[in-house]
Amino acid sequence: MYDDLLPALRCPTCFATPNLRDPRRDAAGEILSGTLHCACSAIYPIRDGIADFLGPPRPPTIAQLTNELPATAWAYERLWRPFALTLLSGESFPYHRELALVTGWVGAVRGGLFVDVACSNGLYARALARAIGHAPGHVVGIDHALPMLQEARQRARAAGVRVSYLRASAQALPVASGAASGVTIGGSLNEIGDLDACLHEVRRILADDGRFVTMTLLSAQGAIGRVVQRAVSAGGIVFWSREDLLQRFRAAGLFPQRDEQYGIVLFTLACPSSPS
Ligand SMILES: C[S@@+](CC[C@H](N)C(=O)[O-])C[C@H]1O[C@@H](n2cnc3c(N)ncnc32)[C@H](O)[C@@H]1O
Ligand SMILES: [Zn+2]
Repeated sequence: MYDDLLPALRCPTCFATPNLRDPRRDAAGEILSGTLHCACSAIYPIRDGIADFLGPPRPPTIAQLTNELPATAWAYERLWRPFALTLLSGESFPYHRELALVTGWVGAVRGGLFVDVACSNGLYARALARAIGHAPGHVVGIDHALPMLQEARQRARAAGVRVSYLRASAQALPVASGAASGVTIGGSLNEIGDLDACLHEVRRILADDGRFVTMTLLSAQGAIGRVVQRAVSAGGIVFWSREDLLQRFRAAGLFPQRDEQYGIVLFTLACPSSPS
């Protein structure tokens, strides 16, 4: 975690600003250890560069439990993520195409605070940090699985980009209201748990001119796809139609501005104000 994030940090329980105590920083300014103390008496530790707002892991679904395994965190960007969109969309979808779309739609060049929610190994977070370039701004990646965050932090450091990583729930983001220029959620809404609570949190932390970009898997139309999706839904993964998903966004005050669908992969851009 970096000092850049401190002004936007909030206690997820009482929304007060926590105070940093006993920080130990490395040469690059990353806060490696310390504690965040809140007036409500909550104390959140920072260990190995990651601030923990959650305490012991208690993932509620099989899909979420799987992401707590170090082996999943290790394999995710090595064995699955580079091929995922090409397999799911049915056309060539390399990283550079996906990341250009996401960072372009969210407007990373504007600078400001960008929050990658349920970030896993931090693919979008690193892309956002690169896309911000020299504009004043900062990127924070949030996930509830510690092994995912540990892998994400190593990847960000190896790539030479500054990203703060927090362990927190997508339904209780430790970020100030209206603080975010942009929020991204890549492939995670399908397993996020309470979708509406997550979307309300995204709306709360977005600035009025903020942008929300998602990549989400839609319900399959073909027979085989439907069988596969029914099987994985037992593990806590949910699929929506495009219309149902966009309606849930609207209900949370996130108004769809554009969307593009490739196979079952839907990219959306939504904003707090309705299109003029
Ligand atoms: C499909 S992966 C995310 C992929 C990543 N965004 C990408 O584009 O490569 C799903 C991630 O969501 C996280 N996750 C699921 N439910 C969550 C929740 N309620 N709060 C925080 N993280 C959550 C999991 O730990 C996992 O790392
Ligand atoms: Zn508090």
